[in-house]
Amino acid sequence: CERKGRAAAGDGLPPVLKIGVYMPMTGDTATFGTSSMGGIRLATEQRNAAGGIRGSRIELILEDDRGQPEEAKTVVTRLVTRDNVIAVLGEVGSARSIVAAAVCQQKRVPMLTPSSTNEKVTRKGDFIFRVCFIDPFQGEAAAKFAVQDLKLRRAAIITDVKNDYSVGLTKSFRESFTRLGGTVVIEKNYQAGDASFNAQLTGIREAGADFVYAPGYYGDVGQIIKQARELGIRVPFIGGDGWDSPDLWRGGKEALDGCFITNHYSVDNPDPRVQAFIAAYRQRYGDTPDALAALAYDGAQVLYAAIERANSTDGEKIRDALAATRDFPGVTGTISLDANRNAVKPAVILELRDGSYHYRTTIHPSSDQ
Ligand code: PHE
Repeated sequence: CERKGRAAAGDGLPPVLKIGVYMPMTGDTATFGTSSMGGIRLATEQRNAAGGIRGSRIELILEDDRGQPEEAKTVVTRLVTRDNVIAVLGEVGSARSIVAAAVCQQKRVPMLTPSSTNEKVTRKGDFIFRVCFIDPFQGEAAAKFAVQDLKLRRAAIITDVKNDYSVGLTKSFRESFTRLGGTVVIEKNYQAGDASFNAQLTGIREAGADFVYAPGYYGDVGQIIKQARELGIRVPFIGGDGWDSPDLWRGGKEALDGCFITNHYSVDNPDPRVQAFIAAYRQRYGDTPDALAALAYDGAQVLYAAIERANSTDGEKIRDALAATRDFPGVTGTISLDANRNAVKPAVILELRDGSYHYRTTIHPSSDQ
């Protein structure tokens, strides 16, 4: 019998929808991949249990890029050419997302990164989206917090100089901090994986800063702060989302007491939607979700909602539906994508104390952003 009006379940969509995922499941940033997959799997299981997308089942195809940009390019090429995925979720680290975005854009397959914040990612083209804020805002949020809340005026900066994310955050922090009346007294560089930060930290100690801005990833930052304390540097360190990892505390938790980060979400948020997510995640994995798990959970849902509205596996139709995302109720805030395919959302400031993160305040984007 024929149905009129609305399409019947499955119309326009095949029974199985293949979604490609690339993440750093091994390597120096492996906890980024593990947390993100926790969020993506939970969102996907919940959606499939509730009938999938118009009756079609979502199937994830996961590739490990080991946290290497070149490998990200290889595995994403494989996902779009061999596996014929209809859309791609990933990565976390901006350097990897930038490289893979070029592939997706060229093949006209929509890519959504839950958590890459560097400006260049979505500039790769109109098939590339994200559900997080961008680093010009994240760097400004850190500068505002340092100047206005902590009343600190003299900053040292230590940058992971081969990491697009770290370099971008340093730039935006430096600009905002200076504009707000602060002074950058010294800047030092390192490269991910360095064993000793002694030379840089000795210079920083002599420069007499009120705090150190350290926009790197958790593995190096944990070591940097541990070594700084050994050298007698007592001032707080302030960082970005890249610190967020259960492995940050490996170098000892006392070293991190009194430090702060900008981040996307706080487990202290009493919003029932956030608490329901935390409860479901704990039940599924026995673990508390970090910002990456929360962003990935939101990112997967935003993509599935777009595929549902597109009612098609066609890349351009999914792209158009993603671009039309407005007021999606995420656990990391309300997600509306702007003309540059970025989400405009507030940042939270978390204080590190006793081996965990404590909500301190929220910084909202200024209306001209
Ligand atoms: N924003 C970081 C980047 O672009 C990735 C990240 C997001 C890491 C959230 C931790 C938490 O490289």
